Amino acid sequence: MINNNQTMKILITGSAGFVGKNLFNYLKKEHEVYGISRRAGETTTHQCDITKRDDLMQVLNLINPDLIVHSAALTFVDYCQEHKDETWTTNVDGTLNLVKWSFLNKKKIIYISTDYVYAGEKGNYSEESETKPVNIYGETKLAAEKIISILPNFLILRPTVIFGYDPGGSNFFMQLLRLKEKKELKKIVDDQISNPIDVLVLCEYIKLSIEKNISGVFNATGPETVDRFVFANLIASIFNIDNNLLQKVKTSELGQKALRPMNNGSTSTKLRSVLNYKCPSLRESLENHKKIMESDKIKNLN
Ligand SMILES: NC(=O)c1ccc[n+]([C@@H]2O[C@H](COP(=O)([O-])OP(=O)(O)OC[C@H]3O[C@@H](n4cnc5c(N)ncnc54)[C@H](OP(=O)(O)O)[C@@H]3O)[C@@H](O)[C@H]2O)c1
Repeated sequence: MINNNQTMKILITGSAGFVGKNLFNYLKKEHEVYGISRRAGETTTHQCDITKRDDLMQVLNLINPDLIVHSAALTFVDYCQEHKDETWTTNVDGTLNLVKWSFLNKKKIIYISTDYVYAGEKGNYSEESETKPVNIYGETKLAAEKIISILPNFLILRPTVIFGYDPGGSNFFMQLLRLKEKKELKKIVDDQISNPIDVLVLCEYIKLSIEKNISGVFNATGPETVDRFVFANLIASIFNIDNNLLQKVKTSELGQKALRPMNNGSTSTKLRSVLNYKCPSLRESLENHKKIMESDKIKNLN
């Protein structure tokens, strides 16, 4: 049972991952939060593989959450392309296991999907646009969405290119930050277009969605449509990274195993309107992460 604005017992799957970790720390200020992942870690309260049905049922029955935020997935797009069965087992069968428990126990799932459910042909995608994934990762995320939609109460969020300060992590922003020390050329494509989203904005979207108990399917992307090269240059300018290290290339030059949705700009006005939330610009988000990084450095010196 979900009571607006009350403390809830929330279970995050994939709690050792980039989004899961951030969300765990974000929600724990107001809720009783649990995390499952296969790996141990500060944000993993229970080590569990979502594809191992009996183990998962045991953990779910033990925690008995009011709400599940399902973030666990195989996420490396080229790896997924070459490991179709494993990807299907994790992203689809794992989701089915969570849905079975939630259905029987009348609990809601918030599913972290992706804009890779769109084909990346026309851009400016809204929730009403046709879904047509171009790779295995996108296919499995869309299949999982369909399973989630069986539930009487669900929320599907479709983010893209999630970025933020994550020591030891490898999101696009962290890869660029490392150029400061590595000082080597990095190939960046200028033909993949999307609406990158700050991980902290995604956490706020989720927090507000829980408070307002919204349901349905929503894009959960950032306010600006940019290609990767433009985004990389913005990061470089704010973090004093030498932009001569950014080498503009086309996706076709990278020889990646999986196709990418190229022109995948999307609009999230529907979500921001129901949440009554004004999203920071990319520049504001990056400057905020700069402050977080600097205070983290000071903490580590002390
Ligand atoms: N990052 C992005 O730019 C982006 C964009 C759009 C959508 N998304 C979606 O957002 C979600 C989170 O992405 P992320 O960037 O945080 O990915 P991530 O860092 O790769 O984290 C994924 C997490 O899932 C866990 N996991 C994988 N298989 C599992 C299994 N069988 N049982 C339990 N846990 C399992 C992994 O931890 P263990 O290995 O320890 O189990 C890891 O903690 C994903 O669903 C992804 O599709 C991400």
